[in-house]
Amino acid sequence: MLQDRFGRLHTSLRVSVTDRCNLRCTYCMPAETPIYQHRRDILSFEEITRFVQISASLGVDDVRLTGGEPLVRSEIEKLVAVLVRIDGIKKVSLTSNGILLGDQAAGLADAGLRSVNVSLDAMDESAFRQVTRRPGLDRVLDGIQRAIQVGLSVKINAIAMRGFTEHQLERFANYTSVTGIPIRFIEFMPLDSDGAWDPDAVLSGDQILQRFRSLVGPLTAVPHDGSSPATDYVFPDGIGRIGVIPSVTRPFCDTCNRFRLTADGQIRNCLFGEDSADVRAMLRSGATDEQVADLIRTAVAAKKAGHGTDDLTFRRPSRPMYAIGG
Ligand code: GTP
Ligand code: 5AD
Ligand code: SF4
Repeated sequence: MLQDRFGRLHTSLRVSVTDRCNLRCTYCMPAETPIYQHRRDILSFEEITRFVQISASLGVDDVRLTGGEPLVRSEIEKLVAVLVRIDGIKKVSLTSNGILLGDQAAGLADAGLRSVNVSLDAMDESAFRQVTRRPGLDRVLDGIQRAIQVGLSVKINAIAMRGFTEHQLERFANYTSVTGIPIRFIEFMPLDSDGAWDPDAVLSGDQILQRFRSLVGPLTAVPHDGSSPATDYVFPDGIGRIGVIPSVTRPFCDTCNRFRLTADGQIRNCLFGEDSADVRAMLRSGATDEQVADLIRTAVAAKKAGHGTDDLTFRRPSRPMYAIGG
């Protein structure tokens, strides 16, 4: 069992498989291509698999693959196929920007993936380019369709940024009413490479809900699913679904059940912590499973209470989102 000082049980592991990405979203990446981690510093599939096996023996049952963009890591479906077979792992999912999803959805579904969260912040091409600094809205929408055709369950994540997201809400409302695909709005967090975040740049979950109520009418809350950070609502049409993840205005740190493995093999016990243990060095120096398990236990135990972004002493983590894993 992985428990921290505050009694929070950790059953969810987020594994970043690469820091590379094929988009340059303003809330995550710098405009210029950053210096990526060297290939030899990135954990191999075998190393990730061993880490997940050991984590599963400590009670982890849920693994989410992230990046950068996880689909730029070649043959990622092979990793999925191995992870879904690990004893104790009940769910393997993936968070992707959707650009390569059309090509890879069938292979991922065959490998045993059941669900994918697609990051999509804009519903018109010009706004899509403004935020991602690349073209590609139609590709992402096609990728989502393809994923649904092959049986994957899809949710959309949109970052809620003041001055931008307001103009997308009506299009998102139409899209979810037609497709039934849930869209979750995540308050912009101070994890962008450019350091442009400030509290005024966040469009709050409450403001988003208010706007949807005036667009579509009363929203019905969906019973909350355990440790999920999202609160979800259904439209009066019974089809449209939206959710909010109020990570800034109402952090879910009290019920946090997750820790992370970065692509270069560091354990991170919190998005807003610093690296807490170098597991790569251990995996590459002949450590036993029990030694690795001890490192994981110690890293989780040392987790702090929460991110404290509203605290005057708040300091941004040194790694931006793409190098942590989202
Ligand atoms: P579900 O299992 O589908 O509920 O997924 P999820 O919400 O855990 O995963 P996803 O990758 O879709 O994450 C949604 C958003 O929540 C991310 O984009 C992050 O911005 C935010 N998020 C994820 N993990 C954390 C976390 O540990 N802390 C905080 N504060 N935000 C997080
Ligand atoms: N604030 C909130 N969410 C972010 N993500 C990336 N950067 C940020 C940020 N600064 C989200 C992505 C993706 C997930 C992995 O993390 O949009 O959905
Ligand atoms: Fe958990 Fe840290 Fe995220 Fe809060 S900020 S939910 S403690 S990982």
